[in-house]
Amino acid sequence: MKASTLSFQAAICFVIVGMIWGLIMAISGDHSAMPAHAHLNLLGWVSLFLFGIYYRLRPSLEHGKGALTQAWLWIVGTIIQAIGVGLVHTGHDVGEPFAAGGSLVVLLAMLLFAWLVFQGERADARLSPASAAAE
Ligand code: HEM
Ligand code: HEM
Repeated sequence: MKASTLSFQAAICFVIVGMIWGLIMAISGDHSAMPAHAHLNLLGWVSLFLFGIYYRLRPSLEHGKGALTQAWLWIVGTIIQAIGVGLVHTGHDVGEPFAAGGSLVVLLAMLLFAWLVFQGERADARLSPASAAAE
């Protein structure tokens, strides 16, 4: 599967779960899990969809292992972080290692993304030196 396809499809799944979670919070009046809902939506929907757009813009990255690994790391980290933060904010300290572990995984995935962006931009400048010089 292409990294962008994985990112778009996973992002859609995250936002559906995130919106249902938001509705449950709103209807119940219990907003204690708000940071977990916020991060699930911002990491799982907004950030992941942005990664997908970038990969679609840089086809050279799409087929490398790096982009697919990055997207999977982000997905797994987001799920672990959401569960951990949700547990912690609803009074279950057992969630702490999951919140911390998930956060480290998404940080690692973001560092990998940073590396891919720098690679992608350099490759693009090499392929189109005229447009790079004009910038
Ligand atoms: C059906 C859709 C949604 C519902 C019903 C919903 C509901 C809620 C509720 C009840 C809160 C708690 C507000 C508070 O206690 O101050 C909240 C917070 C938040 N939601 Fe959602 N949400 C929805 C979708 C989204 C989406 C799609 C995103 C991101 C793209 C998002 C991002 C956030 C953020 C960042 C916060 C924290 C805001 C703050 O810091 O005060 N939500 N949401
Ligand atoms: C390793 C990744 C991250 C960690 C460990 C982290 C941690 C935190 C913490 C501890 C808070 C305060 C929550 C509270 O007051 O209870 C917070 C709030 C917030 N963060 Fe993050 N964050 C991360 C990534 C991000 C990213 C990538 C975004 C946006 C794309 C984001 C958006 C927000 C927003 C909007 C708030 C205020 C809403 C809330 O309280 O949940 N965070 N974050």
